[in-house]
Amino acid sequence: MAGKVLSVVNMKGGVGKTSTVIALAETLATDPACSVLVIDVDTQANASYCIAGDSALTEIIKSDKTIDDFFYWRLVENDRRSIEPYINENISLVTHLNRPLKISLLASSPYLRITEREIIYNLTTRNLSMEAIEGRTVNLLTPMMDQLRQSYDYIIFDCAPGISAFTTAAMMISDHIVVPTIPDFLSTLGVAAFTASILKEIRQKRPELSANVLIARKNNTRHHAQYHNIIIDKAKLSSGTFGVFDTVIPESTAMAQAMNLIDGTYTQKYSKLSDVLSNLAAEIRGLK
Ligand SMILES: Nc1ncnc2c1ncn2[C@@H]1O[C@H](COP(=O)(O)OP(=O)(O)OP(=O)(O)O)[C@@H](O)[C@H]1O
Ligand SMILES: [Mg+2]
Repeated sequence: MAGKVLSVVNMKGGVGKTSTVIALAETLATDPACSVLVIDVDTQANASYCIAGDSALTEIIKSDKTIDDFFYWRLVENDRRSIEPYINENISLVTHLNRPLKISLLASSPYLRITEREIIYNLTTRNLSMEAIEGRTVNLLTPMMDQLRQSYDYIIFDCAPGISAFTTAAMMISDHIVVPTIPDFLSTLGVAAFTASILKEIRQKRPELSANVLIARKNNTRHHAQYHNIIIDKAKLSSGTFGVFDTVIPESTAMAQAMNLIDGTYTQKYSKLSDVLSNLAAEIRGLK
């Protein structure tokens, strides 16, 4: 097995990154042969909450089994501990055809923000630049990913809005970047800024990295239809810098409500959206 690594990113907040991570992880895992690891690198810990639920996440945070603790020990204290004890194996309570979805979680916590600051402070006082800090994170994650690829078919990073050292590192070690965006004026500006600056910079080091925009939260207005077309045109003009998935996630209360369903069946959770999501999963499986 050599799993694929995806990062779901957008500097803009509230565009549907976490909802995409959860829906995609759960849809991919409806295939009984498919195992998924979600890595939450957002201090909001929304993806962790959506997968583990409140009480399990509280336990995980209390017992320091979160990614910030791992980063702290590895990056600040130079400890050699391995990632495995931090992974909550098959934690999903969602079932499909009477079988729990094979979704594991490397959870985040609100302390990630503090840890990131501490790491940056600690390493800058050792005269390391931000680039060097990102480099250290990449050097830590690269062999770890090679190992995790042997255990999971898909490893999906839920990234925070804005750009942090951890988001940059996640993109650097990914095979594919998924950029959910709302097809409106401001979000389209955000995509243009992302592809022109951050993606360009990362591509200099990782020319083979693929990036695709996912139109999310699309409504039936002319404004959304217009900006959907503008994004498609920009992708065509980008000479392969980024593509656009054919699948579109509609603005729908069902999607917002699904994030609140920690257990139950996949079909109950996504009844109205399951066709859309299975199309998205097929496009993800088809990424080269
Ligand atoms: N397709 C959709 N239809 C309706 N509501 C949606 C849809 N996708 C996401 N939402 C809602 O929009 C809000 C933002 O979604 P989400 O948290 O997935 O975005 P995000 O990009 O991860 O945000 P952040 O940048 O804060 O991490 C949430 O309230 C979510 O329930
Ligand atoms: Mg989010």
